Amino acid sequence: AIDPQFEQNRELEGQEHGVDVWGPTDPPEELGIRGTHVAVDFDICIADGACLEDCPVDVFEWVDTPDHPESEIKVNPTNEDQCIDCMLCVDVCPVDAIDVDPG
Ligand code: SF4
Ligand code: F3S
Repeated sequence: AIDPQFEQNRELEGQEHGVDVWGPTDPPEELGIRGTHVAVDFDICIADGACLEDCPVDVFEWVDTPDHPESEIKVNPTNEDQCIDCMLCVDVCPVDAIDVDPG
């Protein structure tokens, strides 16, 4: 599961697709955690898609991640500033790849 303390335990490496990238990263196999308020661990995400389908405010967008061992697409939290903290995405993800921090 995603580490809910990632902001303490990881380093901010920059931005991609409009959201923060928390390392370590070593593409294409290791992509890190993407986003901060709505955070998706790209190395855990298996592209199930339930988060994207259920989010009432369309926070997520697919991005291509060719040659990643878990899946070749991932959900980027592009519109994380729109999040209303409903926690649906956290609840539906089968691999616990998402952390939403209402704080
Ligand atoms: Fe969307 Fe709710 Fe997840 Fe926020 S907590 S990203 S509003 S599903
Ligand atoms: Fe990935 Fe979980 Fe969404 S596997 S696509 S973060 S439901």
